[in-house]
Amino acid sequence: MRQVFRTLAYVIAAGVVVQAAVMVYAISGLGNFIDEGGVLDKAAREASMEGQAMFPEEVGFMLHFFNGAMIIPILAILLLIASFFAKIRGAWKWALAVLLLVALQITLGMSGVPFLGALHGVNALILFSVALYTGWRVAARSRSTRAAAAGVPTTPAEPLPS
Ligand code: HEM
Repeated sequence: MRQVFRTLAYVIAAGVVVQAAVMVYAISGLGNFIDEGGVLDKAAREASMEGQAMFPEEVGFMLHFFNGAMIIPILAILLLIASFFAKIRGAWKWALAVLLLVALQITLGMSGVPFLGALHGVNALILFSVALYTGWRVAARSRSTRAAAAGVPTTPAEPLPS
């Protein structure tokens, strides 16, 4: 279960990277579309919602929504569930932090308020770091448990020479 917990944490961190990538893909496609004379207005947005894509990279917006509003939240819930079986001290606290950061991220992304959109970018970095650290903690703990079982001292027995 530790392995599952660690993998979920790393996959969530990777999910944040995917979010950044697909968003920039879509935005740069939008830039090209406008440079080539395309017009983005309310009617074009509504047509795009009904499946008439303005430019191919628009799929990035859909992937961002699908990954951000469905895949990552499900993974974060699974991480919290896994934390109760992983037998790692404090795991549930880190998993809960990841889940709360995901909830905040979605709220900020859907707010439609530009300032909160800026915080959406900042919170993504915090979420990425916390998810990565959560996975890394398990790896570090497993290494020290294995070392202790093998009788390898994890701290120097004698003070290091100055
Ligand atoms: C560096 C990473 C990220 C960047 C640059 C980014 C950027 C953006 C931008 C620019 C929007 C507004 C798009 C629009 O209004 O059409 C947005 C919306 C959104 N983002 Fe992100 N985001 C990132 C990470 C995330 C993550 C990690 C999640 C989820 C855990 C997420 C979930 C959402 C959601 C649910 C929306 C609303 C989408 C919609 O209403 O269609 N984003 N994001």
